[in-house]
Amino acid sequence: MTEAQENQALFVPPAVTPPEAPLPYFRALWTLMDNPIEAWPRAVYEQPFFARENNGQRFLYATDPAMLKDILLDKVEAFPKDWMFERVTKPALGEGLLTARGAHWRWQRRAAAPAFRPEPIAAMTPTMVKAAESALARWRERGDGARLDIATEMTAITFDVILETMLSGGEGIDVRAATQKITDYLETLGRVTPADLMQWPLWTRVALAPRGSRALVYLKAMVDRMIARRRREAARGDLVDLLMAAEDPESGRRMDDGLLRDNLLTFIGAGHETTALALTWSLYLVGRHAPTAARLREEVAAVAGEATITPEHVERLTFTRTVVQEAMRLYPSLPIMSRMCGTDTVAGGHPVKAGTFIFIPIYALHRHRRLWRDPDAFDPSRFGPEESAERPRFAYLPFGGGPRVCIGQGFAMMEAVAVLATLVRGAVLEPDPGHRIRPLVRVSMRPQGGMPMTLRLPRA
Ligand code: HEM
Repeated sequence: MTEAQENQALFVPPAVTPPEAPLPYFRALWTLMDNPIEAWPRAVYEQPFFARENNGQRFLYATDPAMLKDILLDKVEAFPKDWMFERVTKPALGEGLLTARGAHWRWQRRAAAPAFRPEPIAAMTPTMVKAAESALARWRERGDGARLDIATEMTAITFDVILETMLSGGEGIDVRAATQKITDYLETLGRVTPADLMQWPLWTRVALAPRGSRALVYLKAMVDRMIARRRREAARGDLVDLLMAAEDPESGRRMDDGLLRDNLLTFIGAGHETTALALTWSLYLVGRHAPTAARLREEVAAVAGEATITPEHVERLTFTRTVVQEAMRLYPSLPIMSRMCGTDTVAGGHPVKAGTFIFIPIYALHRHRRLWRDPDAFDPSRFGPEESAERPRFAYLPFGGGPRVCIGQGFAMMEAVAVLATLVRGAVLEPDPGHRIRPLVRVSMRPQGGMPMTLRLPRA
């Protein structure tokens, strides 16, 4: 095949069109609140870093892997999580694992770690596969040609999985109501608001968002009931028990109900929506690209035949894994991370002043002109062993990096591969050609208006 033919064969799914130059001040502010990825100028995709100063506030968009390695790993102490991140997450997640800093973070991370080792994750795989099979059974009842919102369907699967695996069933939780409340929260309090830009007291952002506040009251009460029940019951050996038994080696502190609630909300929030989105975007891309769909089905048939997917199968589903990795490159579930520079330092050879706001624009990093060939094209083969080996570690950050790397990475990949393999074997999903795809950031990156797809059932 000539290069021209190869280029013709490239499938380029919908992407944000970056502004050619930085937006004027007020438009930039509005866009940052509405959908931040639409505010980043083209330079963010082309230069190793992009520095700005507005009203005396320095901003640095970092996309150079050497700079990112300094920020997230080698000089991590100089780059703590920032006040904006804390304003958006703390009302819901308090002092839990995602938001805590320093020693208070460290002992919580150690406490949760055993739940995320490979053996417990392998033991959770049947639950993941069962949730996918139940979804297939529900879809079959709806019949060939049914229209499904795959974003909602994937959330139902992953919410079920997180409750069943990490929280031992989460009895009494109304999954539909809870996922709606999480959406309510993300759409209101889960975004940067004028109260944040003006740095008004934290209570004002909650008071100004009644729908988000009601959602928060609901979710906290839901988790409090769960904690009260679990304190009365015998241990079951899951994440809840690990957290209840944990003790800070420095202060001897145990998790009181407040900190336990912060953490359970953290694991519910961080542990299902992200994976649901990775699956949603994977299914969209597979639905749009017939050669990938065919190769995926061939691989699942060759590795597992008709058998229920096991962790051993997942290990051998190498192409399926690359499809998920490529989906998370093009549409990272968390498209932005941020930090604050706490002390004058150097990152990637570039001086950074204390007080500089650091954006890690994962969406742009994953499409960076200097780091990726055909950056906007869907091509899972780029995650083959050779190309991956040549890539700097900090060029691909769907799960972050350094000590604060996602604790659930292994869990999420097991779930995404096992569920995707199960679903593509049982159903064909055709994206709605009339639906405009707009990735919209509300902490996570969701397809605006969901992901409508038409179900096609293979003949028995
Ligand atoms: C595709 C799925 C997932 C993606 C893309 C994802 C992404 C991320 C990213 C980027 C971070 C780092 C945030 C930062 O440094 O600012 C993170 C942290 C975290 N994630 Fe995930 N995540 C996923 C699944 C999960 C799952 C399944 C769980 C738990 C069951 C989980 C729990 C957490 C927690 C607790 C943290 C905070 C870790 C710490 O600060 O020590 N995530 N995740």
